[in-house]
Amino acid sequence: MQINRIPFIAGNWKMNMTHLEAIKFVQDLSFEFENKNNCEVCLCPPFTALRSVKNIIDTDKLDFKLGAQNMHWEKSGAFTGEISPEMLSALEVDYVIIGHSERRQYFAETNQTVNKKLKVCFDYNLKPILCVGESLNIRQEGNAIKFVLKQVEECLETIEENKVIEITIAYEPIWAIGTGKTATSQDANEMCGEIRNKIASLYNYQISQTIRIQYGGSVKPSNISELMSMPEIDGALVGGASINVKDFLAIINY
Ligand code: 13P
Repeated sequence: MQINRIPFIAGNWKMNMTHLEAIKFVQDLSFEFENKNNCEVCLCPPFTALRSVKNIIDTDKLDFKLGAQNMHWEKSGAFTGEISPEMLSALEVDYVIIGHSERRQYFAETNQTVNKKLKVCFDYNLKPILCVGESLNIRQEGNAIKFVLKQVEECLETIEENKVIEITIAYEPIWAIGTGKTATSQDANEMCGEIRNKIASLYNYQISQTIRIQYGGSVKPSNISELMSMPEIDGALVGGASINVKDFLAIINY
């Protein structure tokens, strides 16, 4: 059976934009926003701008989803500096990026902490965007597929079928993030296909065809069309180009 997956473009703003800059950005974006591919579009500002972005989305009835970039797995408690799923849910956040490679690299996140975070998302109606991806060394050694599939398996451990369909997986090769080097569309497609096959073996074929898989890593207006023409790639997780109005609009209208 052929399942139609809605294209999903998310902008990960990373640690950029104050809430005031965010308000102006979303206004500028909305003035020129057209969505000729009928994509689902999600904005992931820093925590401090979530409320402001949510207010504009609601007030101006904008067709953007709201996403956070991280969260803790506990509901509340003595975790100085952390943000809980309950807090995100109270802000009516739709999506949350989990296990971004920058979190793994600079903040010691592991497949095990990612797994805990994924599990708690479902209790709070937050849809996770699970990030996986290999380093340059691993790719050069020829172990990229093995490494990424192990990430997928460990991150999804004991997550049930009815929950896993809520997850979007973002394949983001670390060597392509912020470097201007994009994976070839064939390599990106191959990895997304391998991830889909892994989901089929962990769950079933139907689920593997339902789950959306994004590519991330130096996505820009000049490479998005080719990436999106690939059968296994359902969208993009965009970093640098998502904080430039013109570039992000061009990506959405690939
Ligand atoms: P860039 O698009 O800046 O390479 O970042 C990709 C990314 O990390 C999105 O999460």
